Amino acid sequence: MTFSQKILTWYHINKRDLPWRKTRDPYKIWLSEIMLQQTRVAQGMPYYHRFVEAFPKVGDLANASEEQVLKLWQGLGYYSRARNLHATAKMVANDYQGEFPNTYKGLKSLKGVGDYTASAIASFCFDLPEPVVDGNVYRVLSRYFDVDLPINSTEGIKYFKELAREVMDSENIRDYNQGIMEFGAIQCAPKNPDCESCPLNESCLALQQNKVAQLPVKLNK
Ligand code: ADE
Repeated sequence: MTFSQKILTWYHINKRDLPWRKTRDPYKIWLSEIMLQQTRVAQGMPYYHRFVEAFPKVGDLANASEEQVLKLWQGLGYYSRARNLHATAKMVANDYQGEFPNTYKGLKSLKGVGDYTASAIASFCFDLPEPVVDGNVYRVLSRYFDVDLPINSTEGIKYFKELAREVMDSENIRDYNQGIMEFGAIQCAPKNPDCESCPLNESCLALQQNKVAQLPVKLNK
């Protein structure tokens, strides 16, 4: 079995039932991904439900007052995220007739949408073969393929993105991307991962060399 096949198999058995995994609406995927930046799933979930209920479409969010948006955001912190969210909703509603772009490049042009979020929307909503690379993915790839390039160096960022693209499953990109992030969040945990129970342990290069705890490498800048 290839790496991506193992990830997909693990995901189908172990995935959590999360609301944004049941939709292909780019507005809802965008909303969930912005909310989950620097926020845990358990903390973000009630906010996601409240926002979707109060603002079912991007136009509803665009037409809300800033006060209303910030009030619903209260408790999530990083209020600049809420202001950017509102600004981007207005941009999509007014300049794009309420339709999110359906290409990676188009998505990336939106304010507050970086490489990760553009890849997430492109793959989850439009099945475009774009690999997501977040902290979970850095951890999984660095360990499984024993890569010690710093994940916060220019060289490392480029290398991991290319590696992620090489090993992804383009035919099942939605589940594959969700799967590798979920695997990183649950099985290949940052501290004391349970490698004994891991179905990828026989082919994990870091485990073979007893280097799991040293990876990924991050530079103190
Ligand atoms: N954290 C950030 N994005 C996520 C997603 N799509 N599923 C679960 N956790 C996440």
